[in-house]
Amino acid sequence: VPLQPYNSFGIAARAQRFARIRTEADLRSLMVRPDWALTPRFVLGGGSNLVITGDIKALVLRVEIAGRRLVEESEKGWLVEAGAGENWHAFVAWTLDQGWPGLENMALIPGTVGAAPVQNIGAYGVELQDRFHSLDAIDLVSGEVFTLDAAQCGFGYRDSVFKHIAADNQSFGLAGRALITRVRFWLPKPWKPVLGYLDLERKMAETGIAAPDARQIFDWVVAIRRAKLPDPAVIGNAGSFFKNPTVTPEQCADIIARDPKVVHYPMDDGSVKLAAGWLIDACGWKGKTLGHAGVYEKQALVLVNKGDAEHPCTGGEVMTLAKAIQTSVYERFGIRLEPEPVVI
Ligand code: EPU
Repeated sequence: VPLQPYNSFGIAARAQRFARIRTEADLRSLMVRPDWALTPRFVLGGGSNLVITGDIKALVLRVEIAGRRLVEESEKGWLVEAGAGENWHAFVAWTLDQGWPGLENMALIPGTVGAAPVQNIGAYGVELQDRFHSLDAIDLVSGEVFTLDAAQCGFGYRDSVFKHIAADNQSFGLAGRALITRVRFWLPKPWKPVLGYLDLERKMAETGIAAPDARQIFDWVVAIRRAKLPDPAVIGNAGSFFKNPTVTPEQCADIIARDPKVVHYPMDDGSVKLAAGWLIDACGWKGKTLGHAGVYEKQALVLVNKGDAEHPCTGGEVMTLAKAIQTSVYERFGIRLEPEPVVI
């Protein structure tokens, strides 16, 4: 199966085996096969946070579980559920149409509902973990169905238990082990806008709207993202390619001494988060191309597909560019940038 339609970078790789999971029964019918235990598998959602560096030998499980519903409403809030295969942005728009605000800052993030907890998606001051209630998953080894709450998901910055492999009895990891089937969100009442992010403050100043409603914030976030992030339907990409690194205040002071303009945010735990996009930009990478992979001209944190039908961009080219960027940022700032997407 060609995987180009299934990854937002538009990398042309193939899967030797590919199965669509529309229901739990679809998965069970695969799991009863005698060779299941020995079959390596790879769970695929929207493919929007993924770099494929070669043909995939594992059985690709494409999650297409549909459905969205209000589980319950009380005076404290709304509990809303969606199938893992639902498109994230369409789900966010639907909740707002129903009059259930709370997810608007995360509008237009590519990908599926089921993939959202894996990297704890976030944007404009709200992370998935702030609105998360619980999820259902199937253990791909035992076949057991289980439910996890937020604490059990081990959310961190663009991180969760689903990104880690259990290395020993001490560590809990579910990478490659769990297939998320449904996710529930808690949207509290009364709704409170989250407006602290600079780009949103600019919109408030521009429009003179001091008390935007959720729909207004949704529209602003969509406009901001369209202006600075490439649409994967037009230019292949996987969103931010690196995580924003954190450093000690001392390290940050060293960098400020040399580069007074470095964009930095003090964190609650005393560390300082640096804007990776700024660091890459400062190294002169914006708009540069290496092979058929490039650095987006409006946001240096986003790597893009510069290939065409005749010369497609490969995952190897993307990783070569990523390594070159990591090397220059390390040489100039002494900081190791960590890739954000899953690399297979
Ligand atoms: N900057 C530059 N040059 C660049 C890019 C950025 O100087 O080429 C500066 C900007 O001027 C700004 C700062 O760096 O002062 C931060 O940029 P921006 O506000 O665009 O946010 P970001 O840190 O690059 C993060 C998330 C995005 C999320 C936005 C908005 C990460 C890795 N990225 O980007 O998430 O949408 O904030 O909240 O945390 C993603 O994870 O795929 C993603 C797109």
